[in-house]
Amino acid sequence: MRKILICAAIAFAAVSCGTRQSVPVYLDRTKPIEERVADALSRLSTEEKVALLHAQSKFSSAGVPRLGIPEVWCTDGPHGIRPEVLWDDWDQAGWTNDSCTAFPALSCLAATWDRDLSLLYGRYIGEEARYRKKDVLLGPGVNICRTPLNGRNFEYMGEDPFLAGEMVVPYVRGVQENGVAACVKHYAVNNQEVRRTGTSSNVDDRTLYEIYLPAFKAAVTKGGAWAIMGSYNLYNNQFNCHNHRLLDEILKGEWGFDGVVISDWGGARDDDEAAANGLDMEYGTWTNGLSGAPSDSYNSYHLARPYLERLRDGRADMATLDDKASRVLRLIFRTNMASEPHYGRFTCPEHYQAARDIAAAGTVLLKNEGGVLPLDVPQGGKILVVGENAVKKMVVGGGSSNLKTRYEINPLEALQEAFAGKAEVVWERGYVGDIGRSYNRVDTGQDLSESRDAQTLIADAVAAAEGADYIIFIGGLNKSNNQDSEGTDRIQLDMPYGQQAVIEALAQCTDKLVVVNISGSPVAMPWEACAQAIVQGWYGGTESGHALVDVLTGAVNPSGKLPFTIPLRLEDGPLKTERQYPGVQEDGKPYYQEYYDEGVFVGYRWYDTKEIPVQFAFGHGLSYTTFSLSDLKVSGRKVSVRVQNTGSREGAEVVQLYIAPASCEVERPAKELKGFEKVTLKPGESKVVRFTVSDDDLSYFDAPSHKWVAAPGEYGVLIGTASDNIVLQGTLRK
Ligand code: BGC
Repeated sequence: MRKILICAAIAFAAVSCGTRQSVPVYLDRTKPIEERVADALSRLSTEEKVALLHAQSKFSSAGVPRLGIPEVWCTDGPHGIRPEVLWDDWDQAGWTNDSCTAFPALSCLAATWDRDLSLLYGRYIGEEARYRKKDVLLGPGVNICRTPLNGRNFEYMGEDPFLAGEMVVPYVRGVQENGVAACVKHYAVNNQEVRRTGTSSNVDDRTLYEIYLPAFKAAVTKGGAWAIMGSYNLYNNQFNCHNHRLLDEILKGEWGFDGVVISDWGGARDDDEAAANGLDMEYGTWTNGLSGAPSDSYNSYHLARPYLERLRDGRADMATLDDKASRVLRLIFRTNMASEPHYGRFTCPEHYQAARDIAAAGTVLLKNEGGVLPLDVPQGGKILVVGENAVKKMVVGGGSSNLKTRYEINPLEALQEAFAGKAEVVWERGYVGDIGRSYNRVDTGQDLSESRDAQTLIADAVAAAEGADYIIFIGGLNKSNNQDSEGTDRIQLDMPYGQQAVIEALAQCTDKLVVVNISGSPVAMPWEACAQAIVQGWYGGTESGHALVDVLTGAVNPSGKLPFTIPLRLEDGPLKTERQYPGVQEDGKPYYQEYYDEGVFVGYRWYDTKEIPVQFAFGHGLSYTTFSLSDLKVSGRKVSVRVQNTGSREGAEVVQLYIAPASCEVERPAKELKGFEKVTLKPGESKVVRFTVSDDDLSYFDAPSHKWVAAPGEYGVLIGTASDNIVLQGTLRK
């Protein structure tokens, strides 16, 4: 790194001392990027070009020191800047100044249904990345929640391609404003963690184009993403990091992507395909990505010595090399050597406040019987808080998005702070979940060991309920294995660790039981009738406790909406067979085979079309005020609707537009989200929300003709506040 800076300094000194003409074009930040790319490329040897394409450490690649072209530094991840690790090891580097702002996990961001907050999120996480001198942020993730069991749902933006597509675009733009590339991941059809490096996702084209690609496409074509991460799995039996169809034909061909394709860490698996297909940069863990490292491991990467050998003996062509190297140069000129310098900011009050605002805006009030929330506790009253997630520090764990944060306010601390001097807030554990306290050597410092057995824990919680005005149970999942965590999927839809028994016991003690489920994916709620109020919280990051308590107390009026369906039972969902999930072994095939037999019927597209009741529908979320929708007008492709706050508090409603298809030759979902607007209104205030419906919004993907088709006929224009709460209906003709 130092060597590079010195070279760059010499180069720049030459620029400032010499005549203007002597400035090499690639160093002249005022010149158009493409000229700089072409100039730099023309100066590179084959070896230098190849050196651009692979890692030299866990998170960096070498650049070209001779020309002052800097290293490229990547960092996880989607919701905070990962602490520094050692050069070639996942262990912490031991820095004392790398504790970041943890922003809420992306399932929470998606639940805000708020594009402005997504922009703010991207902008601020980009600032943190830039401050830490990172060029590529390994996020956001936009894989679709195909199964509630996917261990990484918390890192993604829900089950709907339109919602994920709308939310990812501002995030990407915000990050990139800072001269930091967003690396959108994990491309593509990477919807489970079970056998993630050995399963081929076999998807028909219609399903691929309608469900699994749109959010990536939006990130590229509307967000202008500068990087994409190839996923670990295979698509149609070719590894995705060098999948010809996904990378060359679709991403770079159909969408005109001019950025870099970065492998997931160790996701490149084949010398020839890595050389010939769309992979541009190879990063990873060990040489083959998976098991071990020889002494010169980085030189053994597929895009290192094996590639050079292929170039030298003619098995790989120079034009492809030039394309890959040009993309990396473009990345460098967009980021570290951008025309405008950026400096970033780290752990500042603005970032903390945004983290809090986003976490609160994403919190979803699922049920509020008799208006039990917001909390109304008499002076001198008592709140009993039960549950491990009221105290457990959650930014640590979960896989590569594991963070070391400056601080993390948990819900119990925030409740105690909010009710100091007003009410007693006592805590009982209720159950034992995960007592782990460190991940990748980031240590929470929290001792959660417990000696009481399950019965005693419940009995103690029940005893503590005596005289409580409210009982707030805060549980759900966590980020340990088989919960919401990279590398493993969940094994059940139910709340783990016997939490249901705790909820049932508490229900006997009060008529004001609030259950807060903290998770990044849907959790079954067969205990729903036990609770007067249910809140869906998330991994809220640094300010998670404050944000949750803002909603519980009413300091913030809830406006979050579910980005996925919460089914009644796992077996109600579309994945019925092992072929569909988690995949099967087949004779003669080296990898597990998984078939997306359910087609486009994922999430509410499945439940609504098949008329299967759910616990809480996609798009659902309550407020402490009420809203009415009226005056639907459909004129040609213009749709307008009035939304009014009919209650007594300021609040925000998300007006959702779904299109019901005209009859056509393929089976289509009963309805699909094609528009939404989040509107904040004072009591009594109303606003008109307008949408324009395009041909794309009416279309399905016709695989035989490889075209989007809007069949002629009558389409339903459905306006509502959840996929199961359509309030107004109109029609339009195509
Ligand atoms: C994950 C990526 C992550 C990378 C680097 C991989 O295991 O799948 O999401 O960015 O590691 O940490």
